[in-house]
Amino acid sequence: NPTRPQMEEGAALRPAACRAKGGAPGFKVAVVGAAGGIGQSLSLLMKMNPLVSVLHLYDVVNTPGVTADVSHMDTSAVVRGFIGQQQLEAALTGMDLVIIPAGLPRKPGMTRDDLFNKNAGIVRSICEGVAKSCPNAIVNLISNPVNSTVPIAAEVFKRAGTYCPKRLLGVTTLDVARANTFVAEVLGVDPREVNVPVVGGHAGVTILPLLSQVSPPCSFTPDEISYLTNRIQNGGTEVVEAKAGAGSATLSMAFAAAKFADACLRGMRGDAGIVECSYVASEVTELPFFASKVRLGRGGAEEILPLGPLNDFESRPGEGEEGAEREHSEGRVLHEQVRS
Ligand code: NAD
Ligand code: LMR
Repeated sequence: NPTRPQMEEGAALRPAACRAKGGAPGFKVAVVGAAGGIGQSLSLLMKMNPLVSVLHLYDVVNTPGVTADVSHMDTSAVVRGFIGQQQLEAALTGMDLVIIPAGLPRKPGMTRDDLFNKNAGIVRSICEGVAKSCPNAIVNLISNPVNSTVPIAAEVFKRAGTYCPKRLLGVTTLDVARANTFVAEVLGVDPREVNVPVVGGHAGVTILPLLSQVSPPCSFTPDEISYLTNRIQNGGTEVVEAKAGAGSATLSMAFAAAKFADACLRGMRGDAGIVECSYVASEVTELPFFASKVRLGRGGAEEILPLGPLNDFESRPGEGEEGAEREHSEGRVLHEQVRS
């Protein structure tokens, strides 16, 4: 049975038209993996977003409880829950934006690529559902390893004949949030006033904060650059180790995903000048996918902005960092496997 919140026996429900919140235009958004650590907080945050008129929560377990809970928030989005593969089609039909935080998280000692075998299959089946039920939806892909799940999603959509690179966005906003936070700590300013572009990818040395392009303009000592780069690249591992086996970043990730989804929705509405970093199909470098600043518009990533001038450190990052390098090289091998 769909996990739509039930009325009490005998209770009167007025026609749906009476419950439309002032007829305000809104978008239909699905969270896939909604019962997970990220999914639950993200569902809450999307229920708070006034641009969302309909919120579908899908997972393979536990969606009835999450749906009942979130649906009692007195914000305008209408919430419906869906559980299990047989309800995936209903969950996705008609969606404008699909946010995917489904899949296993890391434990201490693992790289993100260690999640590949399990999460590749999960992302593949969800994207097959997207291709079938909402082929024009914009997809925000959170599941790790992002450097490989985004290329997998692209291959699924190509096979289905629905691929549009502008609509497939890997979520790297948490790297930007961490960079803003750590830079603000060093500068002694409010993190909301700081914007650090983070480019490359979402694993180890592929996470490259452009500290030479921080807004507002500022400069750092070599020690500060080394500390900040290392802390930003290892922010995920910092959380995984602190959680000591209980998972990876969920709360900060939900916050970052909600910010990114809100930017996508504002772009879809037609707002001008919406620019965020995201891991997308790209011609900025020789790599087929790369995270960089993109301009979000009605169709998704409407424009991929150039990297801008890099200093010597940013042009040759990560030399000698063997652990991170291993994650990077595994990611490249996996890309090639997926593409062949
Ligand atoms: P979690 O285990 O708490 O939740 C994952 C949820 O996915 C579970 O509820 C599970 O039932 C669900 N799920 C599994 N298979 C599914 C399927 N086929 N369809 C729908 N749902 C399915 O994990 P989490 O901490 O929420 O992390 C989720 C993913 O996000 C992990 O892969 C993690 O590595 C990744 N992550 C990415 C970033 C990023 O910056 N992009 C940050 C943090 C975590
Ligand atoms: C993160 O950066 O927090 C996520 O990619 C989760 C992880 O495994 O580190």
